[in-house]
Amino acid sequence: MNTIYLFFLLLVAFLPSYCVGYDEQLYACSGQYLFPCGSVARLNISYPFWGGDRPLYCGRKGFEIRCEDSQYRFIDSAAQKFRVLNISYFDPIILTIARDDLWNDYCSGILNQEIDFNHDIFKYGRNVRNLSLFNDCRDAISPLLGPNYINCSTVEGEEKTTGFYAIDIPELRISNLSNTCQLGIKVPVLLAALDDLRTGSLEHALEQGFDVEYIADSTRCAKCIATGGICGSNISNTEQFICLCHDQPQPHTCPLAHPGMHALHFTY
Ligand SMILES: *[C@@H]1O[C@H](CO)[C@@H](O)[C@H](O)[C@H]1NC(C)=O
Ligand SMILES: *[C@@H]1O[C@H](CO)[C@@H](O)[C@H](O)[C@H]1NC(C)=O
Ligand SMILES: *[C@@H]1O[C@H](CO)[C@@H](O)[C@H](O)[C@H]1NC(C)=O
Ligand SMILES: *[C@@H]1O[C@H](CO)[C@@H](O)[C@H](O)[C@H]1NC(C)=O
Ligand SMILES: *[C@@H]1O[C@H](CO)[C@@H](O)[C@H](O)[C@H]1NC(C)=O
Ligand SMILES: *[C@@H]1O[C@H](CO)[C@@H](O)[C@H](O)[C@H]1NC(C)=O
Repeated sequence: MNTIYLFFLLLVAFLPSYCVGYDEQLYACSGQYLFPCGSVARLNISYPFWGGDRPLYCGRKGFEIRCEDSQYRFIDSAAQKFRVLNISYFDPIILTIARDDLWNDYCSGILNQEIDFNHDIFKYGRNVRNLSLFNDCRDAISPLLGPNYINCSTVEGEEKTTGFYAIDIPELRISNLSNTCQLGIKVPVLLAALDDLRTGSLEHALEQGFDVEYIADSTRCAKCIATGGICGSNISNTEQFICLCHDQPQPHTCPLAHPGMHALHFTY
């Protein structure tokens, strides 16, 4: 009895790891993964994204979604941190993100550089516009105080500064006083945030984030899925895209099904 038990233990322990590798990859990547991160609503993580319990080999290098302080984050290669608000996997794949440094405290965010993400990988969604955000405006603009004026304080919380925002669309045109301001940045916002901007709810407008469309190799994964595969990357070379097919990974798409050929073949 003990001998048989030991035999099975040894069998399991010494199964070639390359075999287990592909099975595990197929298993890990085939289910959907709703990434838990603090809130009730969970982010649906699918190719090219990965993170949490979904390994890199189910996604693409550089597309990790992290959970930090109960917030989903995406860190682009340009080293700007974004909050991830939503991901839509319809064609095109759309990521709704918000600049982390403007969240809750846009005043200090205005000190930072303008946003820049990797334009080889994403482009702005069609529903995105540039908001110009100014601060530390010297000349007396107080007589003109309108909903688009903001008050900030310096880091010490002592000196008050005045700023304003403007968006370059006809519905929300204001006089351009930016020559009197020391600081200015452009921030992408959604057209859907226009009502917030009209009424002075800048914070709420920024919290809606903005959309970026995934443009890098967006058709490659669609072709793999169309042949019954699952997109992923090569375990031993994660830079490389692979299409996870029923019995073995393929570089692009799965072969046409051959009835009766269900034996497992492993190439690695
Ligand atoms: C997230 O995207 C999905 C798919 O497009 C959509 O149905 C859902 O309403 C979005 N959620 C939010 C909070 O925008
Ligand atoms: C998550 O995304 C995958 C891939 O697009 C989709 O098949 C699945 O229905 C989505 N799940 C939810 C709960 O939205
Ligand atoms: C916003 O302005 C920047 C810099 O002027 C530009 O690179 C970017 O494409 C603009 N974004 C949109 C959505 O028009
Ligand atoms: C900014 O300060 C001015 C003058 O103190 C005040 O009238 C205005 O309501 C403030 N605006 C905001 C957005 O707090
Ligand atoms: C405002 O004017 C400055 C030059 O004085 C220009 O650089 C900037 O793009 C203008 N901004 C808007 C929102 O029109
Ligand atoms: C995965 O990468 C290894 C090492 O570069 C390579 O030998 C193997 O053929 C690749 N697998 C696929 C399916 O392309």
